[in-house]
Amino acid sequence: MTSSSITRPKLLKVVVLGDSGVGKTSLLERFVNRRFSQQYKATIGADFLTKDMFVDDRNVNLQIWDTAGQERYQSLGSAFYRGADACVLVYDITDVKSFESLETWRDEFLVSASPSDPQHFPFIVLGNKSDLEGQRSVPSRRAQQWCVSKGDIPYFETSAKENISVDKAFDVVVTNALRRG
Ligand code: GTP
Ligand code: MG
Repeated sequence: MTSSSITRPKLLKVVVLGDSGVGKTSLLERFVNRRFSQQYKATIGADFLTKDMFVDDRNVNLQIWDTAGQERYQSLGSAFYRGADACVLVYDITDVKSFESLETWRDEFLVSASPSDPQHFPFIVLGNKSDLEGQRSVPSRRAQQWCVSKGDIPYFETSAKENISVDKAFDVVVTNALRRG
C-alpha cells in the first residue's frame, strides 16, 4: 500500500431516488446538515451535497446526488446516474404508491447507470417517515420481502424528522460501496 492510498480520501458517488415527497432531501439535510424542515420545497433538477466520513479505516469523500421525484422537474434526465457507487431508493411508509414505484426507480437506475455487475450493485432501501407509524400503509414485511427478492438489498426504516436510523443507513451505504472496490 502506498502512503497516498492511506491518506487520500476515497471518492464515492451516491444517487438518491424515489417519488416526490418521500423525504429524499429531508434525509440528506438530516444526515449532512443535522436539520429538518416541515416545509416541502420540491427539488428541481438535481443537487448534490458532500460529506467527509471515516468508515472501515478509510477516509471517504461522499458525493450524494439528491434528485427530483416530480417528473416535470427531472430536467437533467438520468445521465448523471453514471459512475454511481451506490444507489439509495426511498419510499414513504404511509404511501403505498411510493413503495410500488421502487421497482421502476431501480430499473431506471440500472438502465441508465449500467453498472458492471447489476446483480450485486449496492442498493439500499429506506422506508422513510417511520415516525408516522399510525398512518403506515406499507407493512415492513412487504418491503423486506421485496428487498430479499432483489438480491438481499439492505432495508431500513428511517425518520428524517425524528432522526431515526439515518446515520446507520448511510453507514451501510458507504460500507457496501467501499466493499465493491
Ligand atoms: P422531491 O424533491 O419532490 O422529490 O421530494 P423529496 O423526496 O425530496 O421530499 P422532501 O424531503 O422535500 O419531504 C417532503 C415532505 O415530507 C416535507 O414536508 C418534509 O418535511 C416531510 N418529511 C420528510 N421526511 C419526513 C419524516 O421522516 N417524517 C415526517 N413526518 N415527515 C417527513
Ligand atoms: Mg427533494
